Amino acid sequence: MNAREPIGVIGAGWVGLVTAACFSELGHEVYVRDIIPEKIESLARGEVPIFEPGLSEMLERNSERLHYTTDMGDLLPNAQLLFCCVDTPPSYSGDADLSRVNRVVQELGDSADHALIMKSTVPVGTGRSIRRNANGIGYVSNPEFLKEGSAVHDFMNPDRVVVGFDEGDYGDRVVALYEPLDAPIIRTDVASAEMIKLASNAFLATKISFINEIANVSEELGANVDEVSRGMGLDARIGPQFLRAGLGWGGSCFPKDVTALKQLAGNSGYHFQLLTAVIEVNELQKRRAIGKLQKHLGTLVGKEIALLGVAFKPNTDDIREATALVLAGRLQSEGANVRAYDPVATGRAADLLRGTHIAESAMEAIDGADAVVLVTEWPEFRELDWAGEVKQKLARPLVVDGRNFLDRELMMRAGYTYEGVGR
Ligand code: UDX
Repeated sequence: MNAREPIGVIGAGWVGLVTAACFSELGHEVYVRDIIPEKIESLARGEVPIFEPGLSEMLERNSERLHYTTDMGDLLPNAQLLFCCVDTPPSYSGDADLSRVNRVVQELGDSADHALIMKSTVPVGTGRSIRRNANGIGYVSNPEFLKEGSAVHDFMNPDRVVVGFDEGDYGDRVVALYEPLDAPIIRTDVASAEMIKLASNAFLATKISFINEIANVSEELGANVDEVSRGMGLDARIGPQFLRAGLGWGGSCFPKDVTALKQLAGNSGYHFQLLTAVIEVNELQKRRAIGKLQKHLGTLVGKEIALLGVAFKPNTDDIREATALVLAGRLQSEGANVRAYDPVATGRAADLLRGTHIAESAMEAIDGADAVVLVTEWPEFRELDWAGEVKQKLARPLVVDGRNFLDRELMMRAGYTYEGVGR
């Protein structure tokens, strides 16, 4: 097979579409299959159902190489390498729900001419068990490390590509697909590849929980966590990234993957002590803003609180495991009236933010509020006229900056009571 061999993508979600777009950009014919007919129809019409910078342009540019279908039968004759990109959400137990992956394996049956290339995040051991139960089909683990908001860029410029395989030549064929990207390619066994993905996310979450605890202690001891991060990050062994203190990590991956790894360890008889603490620190961190409000406002009963930012991070409309949802619920149970504003995500959040007033603009949320909590560091929040209009509109000049995003000196000079995180 040459390096431009056709590929199949199963699951046209966020990971699947980014994978399809990028492989088509690299010159491959790509056969995309999803079970939802409306999704396939809109993709065929050129409409992309998700927001990810650069994605729709890339799909459009390569439209003649992209083929959309609801029928697995259309994939099998056209491509031998089939990327599994269906989602593996957490189940009630915290273990990953593999029902969608299992359905894909069932549909593929015993096609010995095909290999399933697993991009979905799955528990360590999944590849081995699929191989045991499916006759003949090849199996390669090829986890994704894409960040929302820069997924297309991350795919085309990876820090590394991980390709795990135990037998056969499919691993080499997957390696060949990535060779044009000029990135280090880690060839390893399937179980190690599966673990690399979970361990990477768990480590990043640990790094954030660690710096959040340093921030909390710094508040007590009079150090400034931003300075501490800067000083720590220049040590090449530590590195500057993922050392930003704040209200904790959220999103569709970290909470699910950290919990999944902890559960997986527990199921195998090992108590992963560190991850238990990493998760607990994160839960407490999300609520710390409440204590800061109470310190200045006393009881929160009847207080008007403005939340700026609902998305779990800037530049996405994703609100899965977003801190704002936890904060809104907690504030309401303390008796506060909550207003929330997000530049893109409040439409999605309306259902989950019951009882919260969804504001059309930051200024609407701020008008008459007793305090502002900055939850997501959207650039536009820095541009607000904090010294002028915002201060005039607020009932009290109290700001809890959950991301250390605003200029502290400027806020203090403007007469605010300003509470950051660890500064
Ligand atoms: C993450 C991983 O980075 C990616 O490799 C994986 O494939 C999926 O999960 P993503 O969920 O898009 O990507 O978010 P990311 O940008 O990594 O941020 C995760 C969370 O950590 C956000 O809530 C963010 O606000 C928080 N964070 C990040 C911090 O609180 N401090 C930091 O220094 C960095």
